[in-house]
Amino acid sequence: MSGEAYEQTLAAIGQVIADESESDEILRRAVDLLHDGFESYSWVGVYFVEGEELALGPWNGPQATEHLRIPIGQGVCGSAAASGRTEIVDDVNADSRYLACFASTRSEIVVPISYDGLVVAEIDIDSDRPAAFGDGDRSFLERVAELLSPYCLVGWDTGGEPWEP
Ligand code: SME
Repeated sequence: MSGEAYEQTLAAIGQVIADESESDEILRRAVDLLHDGFESYSWVGVYFVEGEELALGPWNGPQATEHLRIPIGQGVCGSAAASGRTEIVDDVNADSRYLACFASTRSEIVVPISYDGLVVAEIDIDSDRPAAFGDGDRSFLERVAELLSPYCLVGWDTGGEPWEP
């Protein structure tokens, strides 16, 4: 993946932040930019920390996931939320923590979104390609997480309902 694509997407997300006042809309559009901008990003979602669980917020991809709520500590998503560190899984079938969502998924990256040292949300991306995520994706998505962090604080009231694109 070229550095140019990363920079363009960071600029586009910055523009969305400048143009939009609603946090929910900022997050929706950032998810869409990530999904539409990178061929290997097959499914992109944001999970919010709600108590001891992660709750699915905006997402974009070919299919809905059954994992609308994930206990912190479970799965690759729950591990990243517990540690506050980015998780890259090159082969999801070789990772015992992996919670399967889509039969086509081969690799995954989960990037915590922190505010004031606390994990408030995370970006979860599944790829249909093996080992799709490298150091470039990690540093790019960690910058995206920093940009989005203030907009994850108001909380996404899912009301127990799945978010629909
Ligand atoms: N695979 C994740 C669950 C979320 S879905 O990929 C959307 C996990 O292991 O935590």
